[in-house]
Amino acid sequence: MNELAFARALHVLGVVVWIGGVSMATSVALPGIRRGLFGPDRLQAFQAVEGRFVWQARTAVIVVGLTGFYMIERLDLWWRFSTAHYWWMHAMVGVWAVFMLLLFVGEPFVLHRFFPRWAQRDPERAFAVLLAVHVVLLALSVVTILGAVAGSHGWVP
Ligand code: HEM
Repeated sequence: MNELAFARALHVLGVVVWIGGVSMATSVALPGIRRGLFGPDRLQAFQAVEGRFVWQARTAVIVVGLTGFYMIERLDLWWRFSTAHYWWMHAMVGVWAVFMLLLFVGEPFVLHRFFPRWAQRDPERAFAVLLAVHVVLLALSVVTILGAVAGSHGWVP
């Protein structure tokens, strides 16, 4: 039982570091960078913030995935994926899969190769789209967190 409690604690810690960082990026860093508050070179300001956070996010996403699947296996919760009442279980795995793809495939192949050229050619649009993508990801994550905490503590819709 102690292992389960520890896995749950690590799971939540990973979510706090990861989604907390996404929240800070979406509500503070990206709007400031977009308006040039961190200097006139917006691309450089963005890369400075992103380059430091991406490894924290990658580590946290891996910890959340490992501890999440460990809890499913130990508690034998696979059946929950066959009922819509546990939509928040699907949401957790869905949000996790999207971020895995973005952090391990999108970041090196799109953000490093394609985005810099776009940001130099049309910075207004490039940073507006980047912010919009973050707003959508944050919204999905927040709904997932609300559903997961309420659902795993007894809420059944
Ligand atoms: C592979 C991905 C994931 C798996 C397999 C997974 C699995 C689980 C499991 C099995 C539980 C315990 C449920 C229960 O006790 O009834 C849980 C709890 C939770 N998960 Fe996930 N999860 C994943 C990703 C995520 C993500 C991406 C988030 C946030 C965006 C998240 C947030 C939470 C929260 C907040 C709890 C509730 C903790 C508590 O209050 O006790 N999980 N997760």
